[in-house]
Amino acid sequence: MTFDRVHSRSPYMEFAKLRSAAKYNLATSGMPAYPLADLGISISDLQINGPDVYGYEALKQAIASRYRAGIDNVVTATGTAMANYLAMAACANPGDEVLIEQPTYPLLLDAARYLGLNVKRFRRKAEDFQIDLKDLKENLSPATKLIVLCNMHNPTGVLTLNESLLEVGEMARRVGARVIVDEVYLEMLWKVEPDPAFHLDQQTFLSTNSLTKGYGLSGLRCGWVLASRELVERMWHINDVHGSTPVFMAEQVSVMAFRKLSEIAAKQKAALDTNRALLREFLEDQSAFDYVWPEHGTVAALRIRQGSADEFAERLREKFEVGVVPGRFFEMPQHVRVGVGVPTDQLRSALAQLRKALNT
Ligand SMILES: Cc1ncc(COP(=O)(O)O)c(C=O)c1O
Repeated sequence: MTFDRVHSRSPYMEFAKLRSAAKYNLATSGMPAYPLADLGISISDLQINGPDVYGYEALKQAIASRYRAGIDNVVTATGTAMANYLAMAACANPGDEVLIEQPTYPLLLDAARYLGLNVKRFRRKAEDFQIDLKDLKENLSPATKLIVLCNMHNPTGVLTLNESLLEVGEMARRVGARVIVDEVYLEMLWKVEPDPAFHLDQQTFLSTNSLTKGYGLSGLRCGWVLASRELVERMWHINDVHGSTPVFMAEQVSVMAFRKLSEIAAKQKAALDTNRALLREFLEDQSAFDYVWPEHGTVAALRIRQGSADEFAERLREKFEVGVVPGRFFEMPQHVRVGVGVPTDQLRSALAQLRKALNT
């Protein structure tokens, strides 16, 4: 059956946009919105029209400096979502084989299918959600053009170490494939000198990322890809047929956000540390869920020991006004995903509601 592109939909995005909000919202995965006022920008700093070029130089420079890459290794994009799309589009043609981790962030599958790629899968291990390198090896073939994964992983929050990524890179190289690593949650390691997979082997790895999750700056849509020069050039050309020119004011504000990044990170980190401690305390004191505790980040996947996770999520929402993401969106139907990137007082109330739900 050929793919019905004209009726493409993303059930997850529809859920996120239409049905995830709740009074006590644990369905988010990013940190709370960082206030525009705290960026210290005045309207007179901004211009409406910018240069028509392949990426605003000052923004590319800010990204290149932070990630110790050349300016020619940077493509800016509308969030990590578009960064992933451009990266996939530049690495594989329709019909080419792509290996995507399972479970995964659903938009990666949606985008790959939209691009007409032949989607195959490799597992993350059920016991710790680390990449199952054996399974990856078994599913890899000379036809594989691309391997795609998230680090940290959504929805489990698990961190993949470089030693595993190096093995993935080695396997990819053997068949002439590339590896895209979506690193949007990796910012929540709060490193002053981050360590994108791109640097493991610049010809093999592409890193995608944005200011969205860790810094609470989703509305800027400031995303990017780090890749080899050859791929960067391809991505700029592909971007030309997708609306091509970003909103200049958002680019300017993004440059200012990069200047203040350590201050923004310090505030968000402090809030996240507090919230993660609250979630941990909650989880250690209940017996309804099994979970792999993520050492970093906002999200955790909780496996419901009894009953249906879908029904549980629905009941939470209807009766207790708590929003979580049903795990079926991530191919984990027995789980729900909770995110603690909300103001701490809201998290306290949400956990109290959750406790009430578990007691009834
Ligand atoms: C793994 C992953 N990649 C990309 C995105 C989208 O990021 P952005 O808002 O920067 O497009 C999300 C958002 O949930 C995500 O979880």
